[in-house]
Amino acid sequence: MTAGSSGSAGTISGKAKIAGVMGWPIGHSRSPRLHGFWLRQYGIDGAYVPLAVAPERAEQAIRALPALGFRGCNVTVPLKEIAFRTVDRLDGTARRMGAVNTIVVAEDGALEGGNTDGFGFIENLRAEQPDWTAERGPATVIGAGGAARAVVVALLDAGAPEVRLVNRTRARAEELAADLAAVGLGSGVAVVDWVSRETALDGASLLVNTTTQGMAGQPALELSLRALPASAVVNDIVYVPLETPLLAEARTRGNPVAGGIGMLLHQARPGFKAWFGVEPQVTPDLTRFVLEG
Ligand code: ATR
Repeated sequence: MTAGSSGSAGTISGKAKIAGVMGWPIGHSRSPRLHGFWLRQYGIDGAYVPLAVAPERAEQAIRALPALGFRGCNVTVPLKEIAFRTVDRLDGTARRMGAVNTIVVAEDGALEGGNTDGFGFIENLRAEQPDWTAERGPATVIGAGGAARAVVVALLDAGAPEVRLVNRTRARAEELAADLAAVGLGSGVAVVDWVSRETALDGASLLVNTTTQGMAGQPALELSLRALPASAVVNDIVYVPLETPLLAEARTRGNPVAGGIGMLLHQARPGFKAWFGVEPQVTPDLTRFVLEG
């Protein structure tokens, strides 16, 4: 790591550029560590701080960003939909996802909302499995929560011919499919019953777990991979542990795999560039540092 050009590493001046991450709770967020690593690496006079903001005060806090001189902030659970409703301008991706994870305070003081979760998801897959392309075939997505929403929009935007949506609670998958249809993305989405989930693996070129199953302290995702082609890429967005039971099984049967930590690292790039003016790199040193925290 290089020493900061603005003084000793980690020291900020009165001119420092300020950004942060807003969520509730926020103590577990790895984003301050992630952006802090880049700020030190690139010697930037700036800070990226955790902002613990309760949902009922989120609108007020977001509106205050320009007055406080913030360059912007990331927004995490459970505030992404509130941010979506609060910002002055939305980019097309955030509009399609119905959620904002990155706010930039524009020159005129307006709040610009974007969503980089899908970008992070796709960039991670490309980095881990460079031969993978969305156009290659059907993608099967397990789960229908906020993470699934970003993943499905990103896959359809990237050219996936079909997304098979499988969720324990079918109504939630149908709600997601209906929301996607409302923004013109409905045609390639098929909802599959939880009990028939293994049939959704037949002929798939990508399998993504967006549920909490397989996370440390949670049971493994109950899913037999028998019907999944050996060439299909298997991605788990869970990254604690780095190798979930799903990824371990996929690796054992010879499928190409991609872990979840890269999605977090890559989603951070556009915000860092917008607030601090440097295009940051995702490197093994960064990954190690973020995981150590
Ligand atoms: P996130 O915003 O991170 O995606 P979420 O909105 O809480 O989190 O969604 C969690 C996902 O994990 C949901 O798809 C949920 O399924 P339900 O809609 O049926 O609740 C899924 N999930 C959680 N526990 C699960 C379990 N035991 N088996 C299968 N899916 C589960």
